[in-house]
Amino acid sequence: MAIIHGDNHVFLLTTRSCSYSFSVDQEGLLRHLYWGARIDSVDDFKNEPYVWEQGFHPIQDVKREECSSFGTMRFKETSFKVAFADGVRDFRYRYAGHTIDKNELTVVLEDLVYPLQMCLHYKVYEDVDIIEKRRTVKNIGSEMVTMERLHSGECSLPGAGWTLKNFNGMWNADFDAYEQTIAGGKTVLESLRGATGHVANPSFVLYQNAGETYGEVYYGALAWSGNFKIVLEQTPYEYLNILAGMSDTDFEWRLAGGEALETPALYLGYSPDGLDRMSNAMGEFSRQYVMPKPLADQPLSVLYNSWEATYFDVNEQAQLELIDKAAQIGVELFVMDDGWFGERSDDHAGLGDWQVNAVKFPNGLAPLTRKLKSYGMRFGLWIEPEMVNRDSALYRAHPDWVYHYPNRPVMEGRYQYMLDLTRQDVRDYIIGEIDRLLAEHEIAYIKWDMNRGISEVASANLDPSEFKTIWYQHTKGFYHIIQSLRTLHPEVEWEACASGGGRVDYGAMHYFDEFWPSDNTDPLDRLSIQEGYSYLYPIKYMRAWVTDSGNNGKRTMPLLFRLHSSMCGALGIGMNLNECTVEDMELLATYVKIYKDIRPIIQFGRLHRLASLPVDGLQAVQYENGEESVLFAFLDHPSRWRTTFSIRPRGLNPKTIYQVDREGQQQQHYSGAFLMNHGLDLSLNHDYASCMVRLLPERSRGEGNK
Ligand code: DGJ
Repeated sequence: MAIIHGDNHVFLLTTRSCSYSFSVDQEGLLRHLYWGARIDSVDDFKNEPYVWEQGFHPIQDVKREECSSFGTMRFKETSFKVAFADGVRDFRYRYAGHTIDKNELTVVLEDLVYPLQMCLHYKVYEDVDIIEKRRTVKNIGSEMVTMERLHSGECSLPGAGWTLKNFNGMWNADFDAYEQTIAGGKTVLESLRGATGHVANPSFVLYQNAGETYGEVYYGALAWSGNFKIVLEQTPYEYLNILAGMSDTDFEWRLAGGEALETPALYLGYSPDGLDRMSNAMGEFSRQYVMPKPLADQPLSVLYNSWEATYFDVNEQAQLELIDKAAQIGVELFVMDDGWFGERSDDHAGLGDWQVNAVKFPNGLAPLTRKLKSYGMRFGLWIEPEMVNRDSALYRAHPDWVYHYPNRPVMEGRYQYMLDLTRQDVRDYIIGEIDRLLAEHEIAYIKWDMNRGISEVASANLDPSEFKTIWYQHTKGFYHIIQSLRTLHPEVEWEACASGGGRVDYGAMHYFDEFWPSDNTDPLDRLSIQEGYSYLYPIKYMRAWVTDSGNNGKRTMPLLFRLHSSMCGALGIGMNLNECTVEDMELLATYVKIYKDIRPIIQFGRLHRLASLPVDGLQAVQYENGEESVLFAFLDHPSRWRTTFSIRPRGLNPKTIYQVDREGQQQQHYSGAFLMNHGLDLSLNHDYASCMVRLLPERSRGEGNK
């Protein structure tokens, strides 16, 4: 049973390896009791009455709570803040009932005096050790209620000295994983851009003594693509309080009688065996419960993307030539990036005008789609539908369709403005235009970009008292548009991009089939970006292009290193193939073919981070499906003549004999036990050296001895 409500008024939620427990105390308040390794007996949790002796330590701060609300004797950060019409500003709730339906629990809380109800929703994903939390607040009276903070959930961990792992970044430097010990006070991860952003990810990973393969790890991820806030408060009372949800920095939501607001989901996970298990549990959870079907179960195509090859300079002839070349190397999906629409010759003009540029494409897109069809390839296009340039027909016709204050200039970001998605006419325009585009052309794939945050948070459509709702409404509007387009065109595949990895989150994952994790395509930088990404996000969603080297300010690196680095995700090619040598084209074709062969293991297998450059002097990752493995290893440059390395693969059968295939070397054979314990020796002896190794089960030791 995933959810138990004991006679002691204790709730116990249990997954394969984890339990989560809270109680209803003698006053009807929810007390958090436990989150950690599995405990099956609900009776073990004692629900003893709490006594506050009115000393210096307020009981609500001393005790761990399941739903803390601003006001009363609470001085810690709380997960809910509300104001009633008469000025009373605390939610003095009591437990009012609950329902259990298979793996879902709803606990109902009601204020003692005011007609306000909060439902705490829990959903247990037993097989992947995830517990989902959400909240709904409902005004069950008639007078207006104003909410100033509503987190998706809170939880806590006992003790102090927790290590937090999150991802710091900025454009071109996404997913820089860092660790910090939370010593005291509040640590805040937040976005105020109206989107996820690169600076912090809406997720957290916490542990006290853990590594890749050992130690307890507690983690969480928000399913939200807008402003978010995660507060980790080390209280003086020997626990870490964790609150996560929409940011309250500029939030206000009024509920009239009968109205309700539901939060985004917060997914909480627990791994008893380190970070490796956490990543693979999140991969499995994503595939089974979050990613849109049917693509969740299908491998992603090898794509070509024109961006770094041609930038805005796209035209029929050059794209046709690229298509021929892409077909030669085995590309399956050809994506034309920015520059194909409106008056777009650079980033100053055209956004919002989603008609094919007739000068660049005098015959429309048909010559491209015809040619692609003849090769059996699919066609994709880049769009940035939430945006408009000042220099565009759309802005000239509707200057009031952007977020703006009437008496102040709107700040430009990348020479563009953000469309006001709180307006139904704007949402309808975007849906209508993209629907028309998809209906008029044979488009199988859309890369949806988003290259600036929201400023001047005001709408011509709303009363000024509603401006603080815009952040929430924009994200909901974005979800509405993508969902409407998916419904109208269920066959289309969608990629989420926001100047690279600015929209990698579990909210977007519900609507998109893949992520573009970074604009930085330097293959060495990518190794650390991909590593940071891989902690909580699935490899299948991680697009990775092989791009040109030695130009556009990039350092020169061997094509093989670039290929290996991109083969660690969903492979794409972004080189200017028209300028490739014959040898490079041959190498690309060879490796695209190899990738197609190993892609089920890469995209659907388990991932093991075996070595990390800054710590181990080389980068090594393994993908494994219980049978076969593929390993990649990378060296930036030999340091102090160190050119030999040993890596220890995981997840092999100790008794099986594996055929070890290294590129260009003689096959060798080792037992799984030898490989996992002694290790696999590798020689990487020059700058930007890399290698791919495949492990194929040959026979089990038992069979060999027969
Ligand atoms: C930013 C994206 O991240 C790039 O991949 C590319 O699509 C450009 N925008 C196009 O303007």
